[in-house]
Amino acid sequence: MNTIITEDIDLAATFLNKNAVIGFPTETVYGLAGNALEQDAVIKIFEAKNRPYFNPLIIHVKNINTISEFAHLDELSSKLAYAFMPGSLTLLLPKKQNVPDIVTAGSNKVAIRIPNHSSALALLHKIEYPLAAPSANVFGYVSPVSAKHVFDGLNGKIPLILNGGNCSVGVESTIVEVVNNTIIVHRVGGVTSEDIEEVIGHDGLIVTQKKSNQVQTAGQLKSHYATKTPLYQGNIAELWLMHNHKNVAIISFNNFYKEIEQINQFVLSPKGSLIEAAQNLFSTFRDLDNKGYDAILVEHFPNKGLGRAINDRIQRAQYINK
Ligand code: TXA
Ligand code: MG
Repeated sequence: MNTIITEDIDLAATFLNKNAVIGFPTETVYGLAGNALEQDAVIKIFEAKNRPYFNPLIIHVKNINTISEFAHLDELSSKLAYAFMPGSLTLLLPKKQNVPDIVTAGSNKVAIRIPNHSSALALLHKIEYPLAAPSANVFGYVSPVSAKHVFDGLNGKIPLILNGGNCSVGVESTIVEVVNNTIIVHRVGGVTSEDIEEVIGHDGLIVTQKKSNQVQTAGQLKSHYATKTPLYQGNIAELWLMHNHKNVAIISFNNFYKEIEQINQFVLSPKGSLIEAAQNLFSTFRDLDNKGYDAILVEHFPNKGLGRAINDRIQRAQYINK
């Protein structure tokens, strides 16, 4: 199969209407999309990326009104929807019957989001069904943030990639679920806990993050976003002593380490912006993975705002999971 990269939204819709699966851009990461209501299309998604069937898919819809076609929207979830959609928030909601079991892996909850990307929204308005879409990486590898990244992993396995440029957020959506008026964060992501607290804080509601061993979502699998090159997060001075006999790369937030040669250092945001750092994270992982390093050493990012999602993805990419 030839894989074409195109900006033609009509063509992308034509392929989807034939139950093909395609790469498509969102503001977080690229997705691998198919008609969520057609089992044939959904099976192709799992097969193209080698994803286990027990791992459910997010469905992408065009607007907030459409959510209630597929799920029951409680008051607090609705408040979050109006605050953050379209955007990098995924709501886990009780599903309606029309959502196929294969999409939710048999769960009675469905994950729904509205991508905040003009091509994705234009595509969703062209078709008459929601799109089931995981990140468009081969299962276990780093998520793609450009059409080329999708091509690198899935060339020959899908007919088309809709090119929408580089993803502006760069880490996956935040997945939340409202349980007993409490907001549970299943996956930290593009919408920060601070953002959520700003919207719901005055109601005295709690935002809690689930411990990874309590959650069955795949964001939680060991080494889920792993580079092929062993990657370690920690104190760079200590890691450097352990690894300095090797050919190593260093990823840092906003500063070079003066005692280490600069050529192998990669600063994600010289101006110290966590937004910019998140945008650059996965492409830096992918670039360095192709450069023949023996190891990639990554410092801890500030544990606030988007820094939490950045640290989370670095930890998941680690060679040895602690
Ligand atoms: O930003 C994003 O969310 C991207 C873009 C393409 O939208 N998508 C994405 O999908 O990251 P994926 O499949 O790579 O990660 C979605 C996570 C998985 O960990 C999955 O297990 C969880 O969401 N998930 C999906 N549906 C679920 C459900 N019904 N119950 C529990 N977890 C669910
Ligand atoms: Mg993924």
